[in-house]
Amino acid sequence: MSQANEKKLAGEAAVRYVEDGAIVGVGTGSTVAFFIDALADLKDRIQGAVSSSEQSTAQLKKLGIPVLDLNAAGPLAIYVDGADECDPYKRLIKGGGAALTREKIVAAASEKFVCIIDSSKRVELLGKFPVPIEVIPMARSLIGREIAKRGGQPVWRDGVVTDNGNWIIDVHGWQIADPAALESELNQLPGIVTVGLFARRPADVVLIGDREM
Ligand code: A5P
Repeated sequence: MSQANEKKLAGEAAVRYVEDGAIVGVGTGSTVAFFIDALADLKDRIQGAVSSSEQSTAQLKKLGIPVLDLNAAGPLAIYVDGADECDPYKRLIKGGGAALTREKIVAAASEKFVCIIDSSKRVELLGKFPVPIEVIPMARSLIGREIAKRGGQPVWRDGVVTDNGNWIIDVHGWQIADPAALESELNQLPGIVTVGLFARRPADVVLIGDREM
């Protein structure tokens, strides 16, 4: 089956986890786009969505799904999002679409994180996909040096500005044996806004196509 078909199946399967009356946290990316399309069929049964990006907000609004502010919505029952890599413990690399900061915030505000992927995203060890890190622009070189000290090769995603006005560094060459420890360590560095490792708060459910992992 093609990757696009698996993404579509996963997006459609994720609506099974959405309960009536819910406010749904919505991630970003091509897999989530299929989920939003499927969610539109339930729009009269949910209160609305909290979005993680301008891109998803535009699609939600176009389909008539109310978009709510996270501060007003309170804790969310469910967050649905894609990933760039997923290991056997449901730990993830995210941020290929540069939306990692809002994604991490909405995931943290949600009781259940349902991750939707195609089978190409399943790995044994995280790190083949470069780890995205959102940085405050003035800290770009500083963070680049800190990454090099830790054995990574930092590559500035030149020309990309996040929804929060920051920049992205993609880190190549890491084979990440302990993703939670690395996430915690990087979180301490001044200038880093968000690390695209979702290991301290992994997914709760992973759907590969319509199959639960
Ligand atoms: C967005 O910043 C990312 O975290 C996406 O969730 C991730 O890149 C997966 O994207 P696709 O669903 O387009 O593969």
